[in-house]
Amino acid sequence: MREKSINLLNQAIADELSAIHQYMYFHFRLDDLGYTPLANLLKQTAIQEMQHAERIAERILFLGGEIELKASKDVDKIHEAEAMLERAKALEQGSIEMYNRFAIECGQNADSASKKLFEDLVNAEEMHYDQFDRQSGFVKRFGERYLALQSFQAGAGGAGGAGGAGGGQEPAP
Ligand SMILES: [Fe+2]
Ligand SMILES: [Fe+2]
Repeated sequence: MREKSINLLNQAIADELSAIHQYMYFHFRLDDLGYTPLANLLKQTAIQEMQHAERIAERILFLGGEIELKASKDVDKIHEAEAMLERAKALEQGSIEMYNRFAIECGQNADSASKKLFEDLVNAEEMHYDQFDRQSGFVKRFGERYLALQSFQAGAGGAGGAGGAGGGQEPAP
């Protein structure tokens, strides 16, 4: 049971690391383009993926395993916001499918705690998917000018700061 779970958990960490790297890259690019709220959404999402990696790592240590820290994918050097959102959606979709499968496998291996962890992660990744899908819908409808307008408002808005591309949602880690 332990070995199987540790193996799945390490695959999950590799997936989280890939997402962290990719979203950091998108954050840097979007910031450079002046699309501040969307850049912030990508940064916040990368931070949440890091928290996922931490939860998975804790579980591996509890099971007495070693933590492998290798990203499963290289960073895609995408420069257009719309294509970034499509890539981000695909990454989340991949994680959702993978964690659903892993939850079932852990259940079959009588490891309820790992199963529960994967189920929690499915919920979190579905929320990420939803946020990216929402932004991608806006960009499709209004074009990238929408993102520039957003950043204009953020610049003019002053103290606020808390608003963002996600429509103000602050998903729990
Ligand atoms: Fe994640
Ligand atoms: Fe995610």
